[in-house]
Amino acid sequence: MDTASFIRALPKAELHLHIEGTLEPEMMFELAERNGVDLPFATVDDVRAAYEFSDLQSFLDIYYQGAAVLVTEQDFYDLMFVYLERAAADGVRRAEIFFDPQTHTERGIGFPVFMDGFTRAIDDARDRWGISADLILCFLRHLPGEAAIETWHQAVPYADRIIGVGLDSGEVGNPPERFAEAYRLAGDAGLHAVAHAGEEGPPAYIIGALDTLGAERIDHGVRCSDDPELVERLAADRIPLTMCPLSNVKLRVFDRLEDHNLKDLLDRGVLVTINSDDPAYFGGYVLSNYLAIAEALDLNRDDLVTLARNSIEATFLTAPEKAGLLAEIDAVAAGG
Ligand code: HPA
Ligand code: ZN
Repeated sequence: MDTASFIRALPKAELHLHIEGTLEPEMMFELAERNGVDLPFATVDDVRAAYEFSDLQSFLDIYYQGAAVLVTEQDFYDLMFVYLERAAADGVRRAEIFFDPQTHTERGIGFPVFMDGFTRAIDDARDRWGISADLILCFLRHLPGEAAIETWHQAVPYADRIIGVGLDSGEVGNPPERFAEAYRLAGDAGLHAVAHAGEEGPPAYIIGALDTLGAERIDHGVRCSDDPELVERLAADRIPLTMCPLSNVKLRVFDRLEDHNLKDLLDRGVLVTINSDDPAYFGGYVLSNYLAIAEALDLNRDDLVTLARNSIEATFLTAPEKAGLLAEIDAVAAGG
């Protein structure tokens, strides 16, 4: 079996995926037309040409602009359904998917519109391809803590369709502590907690996410390497890092994939996972991320099996659900 077929056959979870980041330029144009939204681009090629980023903020400016074409419940349905089809084709069996409600509520599009679209697509995709998916509500960290609390209150009627809360958007200058109250409210309602930290920000933001927000996983976390004690803590406590190799190169966190610290952290016992972040913008879905990093860091099949196992262990599935998928991974590993 070639490497791509081997990776595809391994049951995997995708744990760091922004649904708004799966908006391909073709769909952006389709929805702009359907909804009468003006785009600052003339063609799909112009859009792709604009995807040259110098850092996180230069990406976010385009990403929030793109999301403006999402208007109706059907738009959110289509976005989610197409992503889940794509993920299932890559061998993703479980997806825990970020969405950014404030990007939509700020434009006057309310929770009923996107939640009904997302959940209907998730239910249909489960029936169609057997893929399991749940939603993680992300607070935008460039906005005030009070805005996150207000967003949480708007989300409460939909809390049974949301498994966790997260934190995204511009990191530097926006440490996690401001969001402690919003996380406390979500935690009291029984939701899980994750947070982006240590993508561009310092190790202190990872520590803040763990200790102040109660984050159970850290999204990105690549900058933990600047603090060896933190790396030891992450390994000892089995705190997952949801890494996104192609994103890190596109946003210049690393100059080249060959410089990525994923393998070093794996060797140091950190529970690292591979994910696609915003695949429409960063040039590849989950299988492409596995393939690119495997090639760049010379990962062998044992490493790939460990990464697939890590992704399942890092999910919020129940122990029996995890055991079932891990057994399937072992069967593929034994046969491959
Ligand atoms: N980092 C922070 N915010 C984001 C990202 C990211 O990688 N993708 C979408 N919003
Ligand atoms: Zn992200």
